[in-house]
Amino acid sequence: MQKEFERRRAQLMRMMGPGAIAILPAAPIAMRNRDVEHRYRPDSDFYYVTGFPEPEAVAVLIPQREQAEYVLFCRERDDEREQWDGSRAGQQGAIEIYGAQDSFPIGDLDEILPRMLEQCERVFYAMGCNPDLDRRMSEWISKIRSQSRSGLEGPLEFIALDHYLHEMRLLKSPAEIRAMRTAARISAQAHRRVMQGCRPGLREYQLEAEFLHECGIRGARHQAYPSIVGSGANACILHYIDNNDAVEDGDLLLIDAGCEYDLYASDITRTFPVSGRFSESQRVLYEAVLKAQGAAIDEVRAGNHWNAPHEAAVLVITEELVRLGILRGAVAQLIEDEKHKPFYMHRTGHWLGMDVHDVGSYKVDGEWRLLEPGMVLTVEPGLYIPAGAEGVDKRWWNTGIRIEDDVLVTEAGPEILSAEAPKAVAEIEALMAAAPPRIAALSARSPAPA
Ligand code: GLY
Ligand code: MN
Ligand code: MN
Repeated sequence: MQKEFERRRAQLMRMMGPGAIAILPAAPIAMRNRDVEHRYRPDSDFYYVTGFPEPEAVAVLIPQREQAEYVLFCRERDDEREQWDGSRAGQQGAIEIYGAQDSFPIGDLDEILPRMLEQCERVFYAMGCNPDLDRRMSEWISKIRSQSRSGLEGPLEFIALDHYLHEMRLLKSPAEIRAMRTAARISAQAHRRVMQGCRPGLREYQLEAEFLHECGIRGARHQAYPSIVGSGANACILHYIDNNDAVEDGDLLLIDAGCEYDLYASDITRTFPVSGRFSESQRVLYEAVLKAQGAAIDEVRAGNHWNAPHEAAVLVITEELVRLGILRGAVAQLIEDEKHKPFYMHRTGHWLGMDVHDVGSYKVDGEWRLLEPGMVLTVEPGLYIPAGAEGVDKRWWNTGIRIEDDVLVTEAGPEILSAEAPKAVAEIEALMAAAPPRIAALSARSPAPA
């Protein structure tokens, strides 16, 4: 894997050219509450270039510099701190394990980095992402400028490093695709477990716990985002994460959950009946969304533009809403007037990668970008009809449905990385009917949420 990080640095430096410097900080540690830190998660850009997992570090790339092109500032070894917090690479580790050509203690940054900066004409830096480094950067630059009478020019140009890095991150390498396939497979298995574990009377958080358990025992120790587990009316709240209510017979359950594996995200939504059997009106709406998703996935092809899957989903959703009598009028006019929006108010997907809403621009020169092999995106149409929805027959109320898969663009067409999570009505009902009564005993007397 170190070779892959080295290739990325080389690609970035080729693009930067001589006379340039790139500066990338590690993510700061985030506090959860007094004395308790959030578990550390490296910044995706920093990790993409360095593979270095520790906080308090700054990577510097200076193409064609004689002494060292790649310099890593990081924490020093410290026996006492390591006794408490675990081992640190230190300067020697930065070089020997992580491929830096030179390394200095992070405490020396203010002394050493300005001297590197003053030799360079162009600075590649993501302004606005790290307030502490932004401030120090502007101090270093003003200091260099104040010395202009002694002949120091300093950098003339500032360039948004994130833009270049994000274009690289948008196209996944074979190793990245392997990690994403693993993440999606683990999440798919966890979705199966949730379907099999679902019983009326359980709390939404108990189903979340089923999901987390399956991911954890399969080696995915972190989630790409907080799980959304909403039954009945809760399924209509797009970012519902309370996950506190009891799930009831007759309701649909929407679970949007995905693990992170090796710092790569998965993002899968499934919607299924708590009882194990769809009612007629639930099935009809569910199949409308499934049809829209199928049409959208079919548009995930190299050469199609980014918005083609969304347009396909909106067309099917609108046609289906007309067929079911929820919308009335001519489909083309309804689409032009965006009449689907009260029921389908989000877009059909986003890039997926190290971040769940991954980086990379959606437009190039003002036009939707064309899909290329190696890009990964989600396809996630939905229908949301809360109680009281105006002009909508009561039998459709309290229904929130989303079906979300992770799709890789390949030369041969769309590859659904999350295909192992069932989504056909018959498949879901069969899986739920075959469910072992593993957690049924927990059902009626579930502990109230803390
Ligand atoms: N889980 C976040 C999303 O679907 O975009
Ligand atoms: Mn998503
Ligand atoms: Mn999602």
